[in-house]
Amino acid sequence: MKRLLVYYSLSGNTEDAARKLAEKLGAELLKLETVKPMPKRFAAQLFVGGGQVLLGRVPKLKPLTKEVGAYDELILGSPIWNGKAVPAVNAFLQNTDAAAKVTALFFLSGGGETQKGLDAIAGLLPNLKHTASLLDRKHKNSGENDAKLAQFAAAILKDLP
Ligand SMILES: Cc1cc2nc3c(=O)[nH]c(=O)nc-3n(C[C@H](O)[C@H](O)[C@H](O)COP(=O)(O)O)c2cc1C
Repeated sequence: MKRLLVYYSLSGNTEDAARKLAEKLGAELLKLETVKPMPKRFAAQLFVGGGQVLLGRVPKLKPLTKEVGAYDELILGSPIWNGKAVPAVNAFLQNTDAAAKVTALFFLSGGGETQKGLDAIAGLLPNLKHTASLLDRKHKNSGENDAKLAQFAAAILKDLP
């Protein structure tokens, strides 16, 4: 079973979780990056990123560094922006063959509310079986992330053919 963990991360939280999870799963990592960089200041990020989500904008991605077709299963990690998955993840999911390989999805958020984001993306992921909601390191309950990750990884590994 060849697994690829595909993620986007602006400030490192999703990247941290992605690295830990990839190690537990024996998966390779693919970081999504947009051609146009996001602004450095948080207020500007909220304006630009939040606006992109609101308007359903799909940014251009830098060329992917892995051949997605070579993997059996994809795991997807996204921060929550304005209640939903980030635009870069939506750009990646325009590849419907790739979207069909996604079996597990995890979100990182500042507040923990991810249902709206899950509802918005679930229709694009016909084989989604496992989800996890993790908290930004600034949240007082972010210490729960490691246990949630362990549970998430165990559920994914149980699916082994
Ligand atoms: C543009 C923008 C919009 C955000 N919108 C939300 C939101 O609607 N709800 C929420 O709980 N957190 C929101 N956040 C916080 C991020 O989801 C959170 O900080 C996450 O851990 C960031 O992941 P990263 O460090 O991998 O980029 C937002 C952050 C940014 C930059």
